[in-house]
Amino acid sequence: MESLLGQEYRPLELPQLEDPHPFLARLRREAPVVLAPTFQLWLITRYQDVLSILKDSRRFSSQDILRSPLELPREVTAVLEEAGFTQDYPLLGDDPPAHTRIRGFVGKAFSAARMAALAPRIQQIATEYLDAFPRREGRTDVVAGLTYPLPMRVATELLGIPQEDMDRIKKWCEEPIQLFNSGQTPEQQLERAQRIAAYWLYLRALVEERRRNPRPDDILTTLIEARIEGEKPLDTREMVNLASVLVFAAQETTTNLLGNALIHLLRHPESWRALCEEPARIPQAVEEVLRYDAPASAMMRSTTEDVVLSGTPVPQGSRLLLLFNSANRDEDIYEQADRFDITRESAARHLGFGYGTHFCVGAPLARLQARITLETLTQRLPGLSLVAGERPVYLPNLLNRGPQRLMVEWKA
Ligand code: HEM
Repeated sequence: MESLLGQEYRPLELPQLEDPHPFLARLRREAPVVLAPTFQLWLITRYQDVLSILKDSRRFSSQDILRSPLELPREVTAVLEEAGFTQDYPLLGDDPPAHTRIRGFVGKAFSAARMAALAPRIQQIATEYLDAFPRREGRTDVVAGLTYPLPMRVATELLGIPQEDMDRIKKWCEEPIQLFNSGQTPEQQLERAQRIAAYWLYLRALVEERRRNPRPDDILTTLIEARIEGEKPLDTREMVNLASVLVFAAQETTTNLLGNALIHLLRHPESWRALCEEPARIPQAVEEVLRYDAPASAMMRSTTEDVVLSGTPVPQGSRLLLLFNSANRDEDIYEQADRFDITRESAARHLGFGYGTHFCVGAPLARLQARITLETLTQRLPGLSLVAGERPVYLPNLLNRGPQRLMVEWKA
């Protein structure tokens, strides 16, 4: 008999918004592949099912997964078209072979050596934000003061975007998500479309400027100049779309990783103390955070043919929600999966960065930022704790999870 459990999936409301895990555990046991009618999404909750889907882009496509379900008025789409905006999300929204071509160029730009070379600069930025914290004792919202601005600084500097434009880029890059996913009046839609158009023109000017004035050691320059035998180089439209995807993919996720890390490490003070005493354990602790509370909690795919998953038939053309946060707590893979354990050897098998074809391009950069931020915090503020009674506030979101505000305090 078809399970009705999917009707009880309410991730945007309490109590699931605050703690989705009891319900996800029930899904894994009772209905691992089930339709959630409110979202018209099939929920995929077991590790092995999620992994097999990530390995098979022929039957499980990424194309169009991020496209808006809304029909926008003609005057709104006209503003977007005029600025050259399309709902093409290079890489994230591509299947091979289109994906393979772009990923080849991006692979050249995000080399391991280039990422490692960013360490001193990330350290400087982390130190700068922490210098603004009171020295001996204090209390602050660590999201506003550190975990939100730091990844934005890193991402914009990476693309060579001037510092003074950071705040408007941050506001702009949230506009497409709002326009395409939330109900608004036609006037609001038009205003948003105008802001998106301004963002696209800004990115186009940035790319064109870099074509005229290439810079050494610059990601955009590498992308513009990269050549792959038999492949057309990236054109300006592709570069603009790619730059927008990089900014968008790089920051909220990293902010959420840092926030989730602080929540769980500070809720387990013995883990925090262990990292203060032995900072070399930080990278493994970061993997456990990615497993235990995945910042990119889910991602979508659509079926290109009829399939059967965990014994459940799913028709062609269905949209699937791969719940990484559930897969990462699958008891068939992890012993005591609900336990936060920074010594867990198997943590790195998590799906927090996806797997295979679409494996996160920015994973080394995200790991580097998390390592440096936690090293700096544990060394400078070992007496850090959550403010008594602090309950993290989460924004309702199907794909991302992290605290919007997190009050911490410290004593010398
Ligand atoms: C903790 C931080 C991050 C998390 C949790 C994360 C998570 C993910 C996940 C789960 C995917 C796979 C999506 C899928 O399978 O459809 C992905 C892809 C991607 N990520 Fe990240 N990401 C993070 C940081 C970054 C950063 C810093 C960048 C850029 C500098 C970045 C750029 C990308 C791009 C371009 C893709 C698409 C790759 C492709 O489709 O081939 N991410 N990310």
